[in-house]
Amino acid sequence: MSKLIIANWKMNPSSESEAIRLAKASDAKGVVICPPSIFLNQIHSILKIADLGAQDVFWENPIPGGAFTGEVSISMLKKSGASHVILGHSERRRYLNETDEIINKKLLSALAFELKVILCIGEPISIKKEGILAAKNFVKKQLLKSLAGIENLKTQAKNLILTYEPVWAISAGLGTGHADTPENAAAMINYIKELLVTRYSLSVNKVIYGGSVTSANVARILEYKEIEGALVGSASLKAEEFKKIIKISSQIQ
Ligand code: PGA
Repeated sequence: MSKLIIANWKMNPSSESEAIRLAKASDAKGVVICPPSIFLNQIHSILKIADLGAQDVFWENPIPGGAFTGEVSISMLKKSGASHVILGHSERRRYLNETDEIINKKLLSALAFELKVILCIGEPISIKKEGILAAKNFVKKQLLKSLAGIENLKTQAKNLILTYEPVWAISAGLGTGHADTPENAAAMINYIKELLVTRYSLSVNKVIYGGSVTSANVARILEYKEIEGALVGSASLKAEEFKKIIKISSQIQ
């Protein structure tokens, strides 16, 4: 099965022209580009191959709209060309106080309205220091809370992509800049897949890894068949570097 590469641009770049330049360079098969929502329309109009994703969405989806200041609805995102949305990123959990309960509402709503969800889960450094069992328990709790009620949306599970992204492995901000070892990431991904099956008999679209993925480590990470793709932050903002990542990924089955 081919691997999936998701570009999480976060709050970058600073101008529309730069966003367009970057999107053109990243426009390839098996890629989802997630720019700030202000650039979605424009990027959609130039993309030929890659899919487009947003970095967040609100859980209420009244049509044509509603009294929710500052929020963007699922229908609005779909109209601007987005097929995917990232939910539960650790930066939103930390800076916007997003809880598992909030993420769960967004996830159920997005899936119900047929937006593909890229759900991020992963432990912070304090839990990592307690050892592998503590990390597994933390990830299990996040997963089960975020997926509460998914039993009723089983057919939409094909639209769910899970990302194991340990917070400490992120390259900037909350992270240390050191990627997880591919062995650990693969073990945690296997654990997540097991949980999905034993708890919900759920077969999701993909389970991928995120955190300091670069052209230098992506081959070793994706060589593990259980790691079905990568969520790339900083390295997706450097056109040449991201192109290398896409190329390496396309050569691994
Ligand atoms: P990074 O970011 O690749 O820069 O570590 C990944 C992310 O936070 O989604």
